[in-house]
Amino acid sequence: MIGLFGGTFDPFHRAHRALPESAMQNLGLDQVIVMPVGRAPHKDRRTSFATYRFEMAQLGSADLGGVCVCDDEIRSPGVDYTFNTVMHLKKKLCPKKLFILAGSDVLVSIDSWYRVADLLKEVTLAIAVRGDGDTALLRSKASQTQQRYGGKVVFFEMPRMEVSATGLRASLLAGEKTEGMCPEAVQAFIGQYRLYDFALDFDMLSDDEWQDLLDLEEIIWPYLSQKRRLHSVSVAQYAARLARLNGLDVWAATAGGLLHDCAKGLPADTQRKLASLYLAECSCAESASRFCDDINLVHGPASAYVAKKEANVIQGELLNAIACHSTAKPNMTALEQIIFLADKIAYDRTFDRLVDIRAAAETGRLAVAMKRCLEEVFLALRRDEITPHPLSIAAYEEYAHL
Ligand SMILES: [Fe+2]
Ligand SMILES: [Fe+2]
Repeated sequence: MIGLFGGTFDPFHRAHRALPESAMQNLGLDQVIVMPVGRAPHKDRRTSFATYRFEMAQLGSADLGGVCVCDDEIRSPGVDYTFNTVMHLKKKLCPKKLFILAGSDVLVSIDSWYRVADLLKEVTLAIAVRGDGDTALLRSKASQTQQRYGGKVVFFEMPRMEVSATGLRASLLAGEKTEGMCPEAVQAFIGQYRLYDFALDFDMLSDDEWQDLLDLEEIIWPYLSQKRRLHSVSVAQYAARLARLNGLDVWAATAGGLLHDCAKGLPADTQRKLASLYLAECSCAESASRFCDDINLVHGPASAYVAKKEANVIQGELLNAIACHSTAKPNMTALEQIIFLADKIAYDRTFDRLVDIRAAAETGRLAVAMKRCLEEVFLALRRDEITPHPLSIAAYEEYAHL
């Protein structure tokens, strides 16, 4: 018997953890599948990047036996309806019995669910009772639902908890203390990546632009490991901040951050081939061999190629910013500098001079930040006895006097 627990998990808080834990214990399930939604049908607000929501669900439920987090809805294009997910899981896992696990609020909203009558023929709806609910009211709603759709509704107990994702986001945005509201690992993750600290930056974007960025994230999802996705989204956030503070296009900077490493997980030969194709299309055939010799650098132009062909990015400057993020180059535009810098100094990075470089980049001194950042890159290369790429040296010469 399997339980499906879907949600936005923005953020994944302690009630999100307690619900599948209680369901495992009280319903005798073999497994609970936690399913972060890709695109929710009824959301009237902007959800955070799926990468972060998926990571929080994993961190928050990692030590719960029998519970796993699945990215099938994130991977599937378009709006995700529970009915489609249920049919997909039934085909994939052939469970004896499938439960939909949910909070009691679902009994109020279920009439508006997509193909609800068909859905309830396929599953048992298992409602968590938090010990403080109006049980009589819940039972009457449950029997209404059963009469209307012929489905089965059962209840299970879970501990009472005063926590909601909406309230938590508001507290995090306001910089208030939220200790104890999320599982510890989630709390630490939110702190390190500063998940909810970028509202000012992303407020510069329209809803359509935000959706466009979530679509880009969905396109690159299969290309990257979760570790690389986390890095890419972190770079995207920080690039957005640098773009706002430097008066540049926030959408382009965020997109550049998301896409900058999208080819890095491909086999070396494929990266070399894609990089050559990109550089040939830019009439940079001469640089192609220089790039393609170095597997650590070739993913820059290779990612630009994937961004162009798979994500349909057409802006030349944005593609070039992706292409040159691994080396830098002379005469970089501000957007190119921002993508290069955000890759090295986003919140997923830790090194000594970081604060110093961030301070320069955030106060309009991009060239100074570039100089210091390239110095750090050269230092790291020297430690590994690697000679810097000629484009990096040429770039540095422009900033050396600063
Ligand atoms: Fe990179
Ligand atoms: Fe990167």
